[in-house]
Amino acid sequence: MRQMVMVGFLQAQNCTTLASAWRHPEARTDFTTAAYYQKIGQVLEEGKFQLAFFDDRLAMPDIYGGNPAEVVANGVRVVKLDPVAAMMAMGFGTKYLGVGSTASTTYYEPFDVARRFQTVDHMIGGRAAWNVVTSVNDGEAHNMGRAVHMEHDARYDRADEFMEIVLRCWDAWDDDALVVDKSSGLFAHPEKVHRLEYKGKYLNSSGTFTVPRSPQGHPVVIQAGSSPRGKIFSARWAETVFVAYPDLEDGKKQYAEFKAAVASHGRDPDLCTVNTIAYPVVAETRMEAEDKMALIDTLYKEVDGLSLLSEALNYDFKRKALDEPFSSDELDGMSGMQAMRNRVMQVIGRNPTPRDFLEVTRRGRPREAIVGSGKDVADHLEKWFVERACDGYVVGGTHTPGTFEDFVKYAIPELQKRGLYRKEYAGATLRENLGLSRMTKKEWGLA
Ligand SMILES: Cc1cc2nc3c(=O)[nH]c(=O)nc-3n(C[C@H](O)[C@H](O)[C@H](O)COP(=O)(O)O)c2cc1C
Repeated sequence: MRQMVMVGFLQAQNCTTLASAWRHPEARTDFTTAAYYQKIGQVLEEGKFQLAFFDDRLAMPDIYGGNPAEVVANGVRVVKLDPVAAMMAMGFGTKYLGVGSTASTTYYEPFDVARRFQTVDHMIGGRAAWNVVTSVNDGEAHNMGRAVHMEHDARYDRADEFMEIVLRCWDAWDDDALVVDKSSGLFAHPEKVHRLEYKGKYLNSSGTFTVPRSPQGHPVVIQAGSSPRGKIFSARWAETVFVAYPDLEDGKKQYAEFKAAVASHGRDPDLCTVNTIAYPVVAETRMEAEDKMALIDTLYKEVDGLSLLSEALNYDFKRKALDEPFSSDELDGMSGMQAMRNRVMQVIGRNPTPRDFLEVTRRGRPREAIVGSGKDVADHLEKWFVERACDGYVVGGTHTPGTFEDFVKYAIPELQKRGLYRKEYAGATLRENLGLSRMTKKEWGLA
């Protein structure tokens, strides 16, 4: 029987995707310690999550007002630790949970990313994953010493080249290359360690990769592109994808289109799982969950939404009054997440205002929170899964570790009772737990 994938949506930060998460009375505040990430990992492992992944952005959301003061004062996602270090801490505190981290193809070098993630995969016994992003805004460009963020589709062209190099690095050492035989003196078979020569439009790499084959072959590749160009990229490279489908009908349509795109690359679409965002607010009874949600709603501030929109769309929303429509030129100038901008324009049907953006995207608030008892939440998750709008969920927290504790306590047992969710891990590596074989060069289009 087909069973759900469950992924924890994590941040190596002072809050979750909801800036207000740190204001929650039950939120832990030791977010700079290994103990904090290990606790969250242990809760997810108790709930048999296959994967936890850390999102990332290489800048504070300080595009809003062109100044960090307001976001710092309000704690709007301003602490961002290195997610790979947090991922290692979580990996050392867990045994079966896959752990992933985000790394940018626009601001890093492929050899560096290949080496770092393959090393982590060794260190945590084949449970590592890489969330491939092309990054979003000028704040990231400035921190990384560039004047402006690259143009949207060109970022993905560079990312294609980046993937070719990373995957060839990961494939450089044959499975049986390493010998380490002290008696014969042979360390590794030279004919089984392959040199890379790559020349692209954006990237070059020439040399021999320095990390042997890792326990699961190589880290699992995650992607979440949602623009037309982004989807082409993820259909080619991703082994599991994250999406934020707006509703069930649209989700079913986009899911079917994405699976067809995966198949068009000669890949098995059942193996590339699609996980949609879910924000559960769950308690013993529906009434208690509604009370919890009412409390969460009081924690939101308008600066959360406006600064997170400025960040996502690479446009300073403080330049406009709340009810003043953007001009068409201004809308064209939003160079960040274009699918988000396009959806707001489509829903509103005229040039939208900042308030329209806040209302349609609900940025900074739990989007479509699923509020109820374990049974209510399981009903919702079951419906999307059975009707093929997704294969699983990226579960986001309204506060941590509370959201995950409640979800594991109330919703997971209900899903298990229905046979929709595993009771035990299938294996030791992330690849085994996702039911993924190692992709072949032909499937990657690298043959
Ligand atoms: C669940 C989820 C997690 C994401 N995590 C990140 C992240 O950590 N960093 C980032 O820059 N983008 C992240 N994104 C954004 C996507 O990578 C992508 O940029 C976005 O969906 C816009 O699509 P596009 O790049 O095709 O325009 C995430 C998206 C989703 C749905």
